[in-house]
Amino acid sequence: MTTFYQNAQQTDLKKTISMNNFQYKNPTKILFGKGQIENIATEIPENAKVLMLFGGGSIKKNGVYEQVSKALSKFEVIEFGGIPANPEYAVLMEALDIIKTEKITYLLAVGGGSVIDGTKFLAAAALFEGETPWDILSENIRTLKGIPFGSVLTLPATGSEMNSGAVITRAETKEKFAMGGPGLFPQFSVLDPEVVKSIPQRQIANGLADAFTHVLEQYMTYSVDAKIQDRFAESILLTLIEVAPAILKDTSDYKAASNFMWSCTMALNGLIQQGVPSDWAVHMMGHELTALFGIDHARTLAIIAESHYKVNFDDKKDKLAQYAERVWNVTEGTKEEKALAGIEKTTEFFQSLGIKTKLSEYTEDYKGTAQLISKRFEERGWKGLGEHGKVTPKSVEKIVEMSY
Ligand code: NZQ
Ligand code: ZN
Repeated sequence: MTTFYQNAQQTDLKKTISMNNFQYKNPTKILFGKGQIENIATEIPENAKVLMLFGGGSIKKNGVYEQVSKALSKFEVIEFGGIPANPEYAVLMEALDIIKTEKITYLLAVGGGSVIDGTKFLAAAALFEGETPWDILSENIRTLKGIPFGSVLTLPATGSEMNSGAVITRAETKEKFAMGGPGLFPQFSVLDPEVVKSIPQRQIANGLADAFTHVLEQYMTYSVDAKIQDRFAESILLTLIEVAPAILKDTSDYKAASNFMWSCTMALNGLIQQGVPSDWAVHMMGHELTALFGIDHARTLAIIAESHYKVNFDDKKDKLAQYAERVWNVTEGTKEEKALAGIEKTTEFFQSLGIKTKLSEYTEDYKGTAQLISKRFEERGWKGLGEHGKVTPKSVEKIVEMSY
């Protein structure tokens, strides 16, 4: 059965699809390992006026703040703390004021995805010539040039440290929008796995689930016979599955922390996405759940994924079956049975991290959510998401409803 299926697929592929053309450049320099924070001084231009950005204060408790401050001792530095998880537009606008009045020339993000994303927004907004920086988000204006910035990553999860995307929230309107562009790669990012030590379990689980889903979004589509991309993707998934129990058990396990950290970066630094179709519909629906209910980003993905794969089963079953075989070692059954087993294994993986996978487990207020999200997508003109552009607002409604 397996042989027949593989042969059939290969024959089919030869007739139809091959890897897409691509141009790939990732300019972010990575400084990986213990003690690398001290090297940021040589990465920032000598005469820079630096705005150091951070979150709610975790860096002041785990020694990261001291290390960064020491490394920056020869620079003129202004600090801006208090960027919340799901970086808030109104807070960032305060930082934008400082950048303008103080004539800041370099930004340094010290934090997780939220701080790095907030910094990317500021890098773009500082040079934006339109009416209001909100347009960058609401009209999805690509940033070709931002002011330069670097990052010291404190939470492996999003990959923001080595990509050019960001996601910004506006509490006032309960909206959460993505932005990005080639001008928004960090110039450098420090990845010191020792920072993982102080991360609470909830955020470790989030990081594992977010990175896992990033790979799925770029893999669970249809095959273009991109063997390297598929196997890179599978290797990241296998690594996350392997290190999850170790890092959840002991965040000071440096070996596990190193593999966890580098897996998260590799999951969304553009490499596995080259030449292949990608989906991202799970993220687009997930962002709405964060905007509406404040649910952690990674958890929204765990809520949506299963229903999304079930509703789009026919389009995704070849890759789902390949994933089940190669990642979860499912060897028995038809292609459809393997594909279904792959979906089940995914949900079980999220649950093994302590993540709940139904919306009703997070809020009692879930009724009507599916219709509301579908209506929002309709109003935004998001007629078809996913790798085939087939995930219509109607289908979004069905997926979200199945996730209750
Ligand atoms: O704010 P502080 O006090 O620093 O605490 C943070 C925050 O409460 C804490 N934390 C971070 N590092 C820590 C730590 N606590 C102890 N020790 C440390 N070393 O963790 C909490 C969550 O931090 P946050 O930055 O919000 O988490 P994450 O990295 O998961 O980022 C989530 C945001 O990134 C966006 C999400 O939508 C969400 O807004 N994403 C960004 C992406 C991108 N730019 O490529 C892609 C993703 O799909 C995602 O959408
Ligand atoms: Zn994500």
